[in-house]
Amino acid sequence: MKIHIKTYGCQMNERDSEAVGAMLTEAGHTLVAEENAADVLLFNTCSVRDAAERKAKGKIGYMRKLKQHRPDLIIGVMGCMAQRLGDRLLAELPHLDFVLGTGQTHRAPEIIAQIAADRVRLAETAAAPEEIDMLGAHGRNSWSAQIAITRGCNRFCSYCIVPYVRGREVSRSRESILAEARELAAAGVREILLLGQNVAAYGLNGDIRPPTPDHSPFAELLEALNEIPGLERIRYTSPYVSYFNERLISALVRCRKVCHNIHLPLQSGSDRILKAMNRQYTAADYRNKVAELRRAIPELTFSTDVIVGFPGESEDDFRMTRDLMNEVGFEQAYIFKYSPRPGAKSASLEDTVSEEEKLRRNNLLLADLQERIGRKLAGLVGTTQEVLCEGVSSRNIGRWTGRTGTNFVVHFEPDASVRPGALRQVRITRAGGVSLFGELL
Ligand code: SAH
Ligand code: SF4
Ligand code: F3S
Repeated sequence: MKIHIKTYGCQMNERDSEAVGAMLTEAGHTLVAEENAADVLLFNTCSVRDAAERKAKGKIGYMRKLKQHRPDLIIGVMGCMAQRLGDRLLAELPHLDFVLGTGQTHRAPEIIAQIAADRVRLAETAAAPEEIDMLGAHGRNSWSAQIAITRGCNRFCSYCIVPYVRGREVSRSRESILAEARELAAAGVREILLLGQNVAAYGLNGDIRPPTPDHSPFAELLEALNEIPGLERIRYTSPYVSYFNERLISALVRCRKVCHNIHLPLQSGSDRILKAMNRQYTAADYRNKVAELRRAIPELTFSTDVIVGFPGESEDDFRMTRDLMNEVGFEQAYIFKYSPRPGAKSASLEDTVSEEEKLRRNNLLLADLQERIGRKLAGLVGTTQEVLCEGVSSRNIGRWTGRTGTNFVVHFEPDASVRPGALRQVRITRAGGVSLFGELL
C-alpha cells in the first residue's frame, strides 16, 4: 500500500516517524509524499500544547471529505495525542480507523494489515513492553541522523504532559547506541543528534536526583561516540541544567566532536514560578551553571525554552525571566505561551494570565531575542567558521547552507567539490537577520 506520514511535534516524533516509515517499507509498503496518492494516512501527533492538538485534529477532520470519495482510505493517528486521548479520538472522529499510542508504534505494520483485511476500528494504547530496545534510527539523510538514547520522562514538571504520554524514563543500552552510531558512520553519516527528554540523565535508571559530581553515564557515552571514525559532529537535546556536573563538563571539553551548543531549557527566571513548575533549580543555579560552562568552553552558545504566563506569573516574575534571558544572552530561544494540559498537575491551577497578556510577554521576549541575535551575528562577520555543509539553500538555489558547531546557519556559494556532510572553512562576510553569509575558503 501507499502510505503518507505527517508528523507534528518534536524531534522525538520526527524520529519515530522515520522509524515507523522504515518498518512499513520493510513490510512491503511504499511511502508517498502526496496525501492524495496514499492508501493509508498516518498522523504522528503532539500533545504538548492545546494548539498542537487542535492543529492535528483540524487536519484529520478535514480528511473526512477525502474519505467520503475514497471509502477504502485508512486513516490512523499515532504519537502523543493518540496516547493521551486513545479511543476518545475514535468517538470524536468517526472517519478515523485506528489510534496507536506511543508504546505501540512498533505494531503499525501489523495493525494496518489487520484493518485492511477486516475493516475494524482499533485504539491500542498499552505501555511499551520493557524488552523493546526502542526503534532504531533507520531514516537518515545521507549525512545526519537522530538517535534516541532515552524514552519517556520521570521529571513531572507541573505544566507538562510528556511524562503521561511518553511513559517512564528508560535508557537504551550503550551497546545498541554505539552499534547504531558505528553503522550510521560507516554508511556516511557525519553528524548525529542524540535525543531524549533529558539526555543528560542517560543511564541513571530513571532516578531524578542529579548524580554526584564524578558520575555521568551520559559523559561516558559521549566519550565513546567521540571515538567513532567517520563521525564529525555530535549534538544532543535536551539536557536538564542540574546534570552538568564536573564529569560531564570535562567530557564536553575533551570531546572534539561534541558541538559547542547547548539547548538548556530555562522555563522561567523567577524562583517562585520555577518552584511551582516543579523545576529543581533556582535562577541562580541556572546562571551559575551557564557561567561555569562558559568558563570551560568560552565559545559555547546557548538556546532555551521559556514559558510565559504560567499560573500566577506576575509582572515581576516575568521581568525576572526577561532579565535572566538578556543576561545569559541566548543565541536562540523558543518561547511558549502557557497552555493548561488536562492531566498535568498545573491544570488544577487557575490560568490567571490572560491570552492577551501572554502574547504581550511572548512578543517582548521575541523582540529582545531578535535584537540580540542580530548583534551576535554581526559580531561574527570577519571570522572564519567551520561549517558542516548541508545542501542547496531552500531560499536561493544558487547558494548552499551549512551550520557551525555553535549552531549558526551559514549561506555560501558552492564550489565544484562541495558535498553534503563535508566540513569546510567559511569566512563570514555578512550577517542577515537570522543567519550568516560567507565564502568558502
Ligand atoms: N523534555 C524537554 C522539553 C519537552 S517539551 C525538556 O525538558 O527539556 C518542549 C517545551 O515545551 C518545554 O521545554 C516547555 O518550554 C514547553 N511546554 C511544555 N509544556 C507546556 C505547556 N503546557 N504550555 C506551554 N509550553 C509548554
Ligand atoms: Fe516535560 Fe519536564 Fe519532562 Fe521536559 S523534563 S519532558 S518539560 S516533564
Ligand atoms: Fe514531543 Fe509533543 Fe510528544 S513535544 S514528546 S510530540 S507531546
